[in-house]
Amino acid sequence: MRIYIETYGCQMNDYDSRMVTSMLAAAGHASETDPRRADAVIVNTCSVRERAEDRVLGRLRQLTGLMKPDAVLGVIGCVAQRMADDLLSSAHGVDFVVGTDQYERLPEAVANAHAGSRSVSTRVVREQTYDARPSPTEASICDFVSVMRGCDNYCSYCIVPYVRGRERSRPLDRVLDETRSLIELGARDVTFIGQNVNSYLDGDVDFAGLLRAANDVPGLARIRFATSHPKDLSDAVIDAVAGLDNVCEHVHLPVQSGSDTILEAMNRSYTRDDYLALVEKLRARVPGVAVTTDVIVGFPGETEEDYRATVSLMDEVRFDSAFMFRYSVRAGTRAAKLTDDVPEEMKLARLESVISLQRSVTEEINRRLVGTVQEVLVEGPSEKDESLLFGKTGTSKVVVFDGQTATVGGLEPVLITEASAWTLRGTHAPGGGKTRAEKDLAGSGGPR
Ligand code: SAH
Ligand code: SF4
Ligand code: F3S
Repeated sequence: MRIYIETYGCQMNDYDSRMVTSMLAAAGHASETDPRRADAVIVNTCSVRERAEDRVLGRLRQLTGLMKPDAVLGVIGCVAQRMADDLLSSAHGVDFVVGTDQYERLPEAVANAHAGSRSVSTRVVREQTYDARPSPTEASICDFVSVMRGCDNYCSYCIVPYVRGRERSRPLDRVLDETRSLIELGARDVTFIGQNVNSYLDGDVDFAGLLRAANDVPGLARIRFATSHPKDLSDAVIDAVAGLDNVCEHVHLPVQSGSDTILEAMNRSYTRDDYLALVEKLRARVPGVAVTTDVIVGFPGETEEDYRATVSLMDEVRFDSAFMFRYSVRAGTRAAKLTDDVPEEMKLARLESVISLQRSVTEEINRRLVGTVQEVLVEGPSEKDESLLFGKTGTSKVVVFDGQTATVGGLEPVLITEASAWTLRGTHAPGGGKTRAEKDLAGSGGPR
């Protein structure tokens, strides 16, 4: 059969879609890029906010209209886990539903659906880490390895612990094997992903131990990780970011709110001051580190003063960038019991104003890089203009640059000539500045 997969949501879902593709390939199925030609259409879904879920449900209706009459439609991922049977019984046209811990059953579900029998598998398997799966068969220059699944934090607004199950770490050797396989297939930059990577634990190896082990993997130029919960970002991890050559100087550290009242109601287990102290420590130990965040406005009970506290925290920290959201009630979470009392227009107004504040901060931070030489890992031609290349700095900033002699997959020095809130522009500057390799040879180690 020819199988088309469409993916919504976070990096974990992208990662899972690829894993599922290889499981289906092992069962003899081919990939298809056009839903109209597929024998099975699979949608990997996100539940994190109501809008994400509505989008998925709308898309299912659209897909049923496009598909061949004998093709089958399946839903996997977080909406599959949350809605389960409801997806089959309602008017969604769905033939099979497979939850986040049951992907091994997907080939069987596809075959059964084709034979006319609809099914739902959403049983939660506490230990599921999919470690028996085949090695990857393709890689991107910047790729991902999941180091853990699930989440035990139960932030009061969040659906993830309910749809992704309990937190479990993958064995260290499996993480490293997968990383090595990706490198053999051409990856140079690997991001370790998990809902809360800082609580990684395999025997006595914690996340800092994993970073140290990965730092020694030959051929790996850059290691990134996401996401860090502020309550779990240990000194050992900060030291790893500071001291290990290949670990990028970027920490994604969602703050969510700047108000202690709201942080407590969110069950985040830190205060505004704890957060500020943590950022200060991180910046002191890792000069030049990029700090990015997630912010929610309009949580139940958020007063003007609470909201102002978020704005002032953002002002004080000056994040390199931020993902900003307005609160969305998720049925079954603890916050769903609170009255969603911030009017929609106010949520929107608060959202727009934090977005515009952040845009100006990001732009200012980026502008300061104009005139400097940055080390860029080149990912390929720019989408907008094929004569240019693009890549990222170690601080995860996108750089579009002109460089005929730069190597795709290489770490190249780029002189930054222009900056906006979204991208840096520059020109390849071989010899125009010191690359990390040269710095290492000089023994200075640079600022890191
Ligand atoms: N720990 C995960 C969080 C995944 S959800 C991670 O940090 O990668 C990503 C972000 O979505 C959260 O940090 C939060 O800012 C936002 N979010 C989660 N639930 C939400 C809700 N109910 N309404 C609005 N935003 C939400
Ligand atoms: Fe959700 Fe909180 Fe877990 Fe992140 S840490 S996935 S926000 S419950
Ligand atoms: Fe969405 Fe599930 Fe990721 S709810 S954000 S796809 S873990």
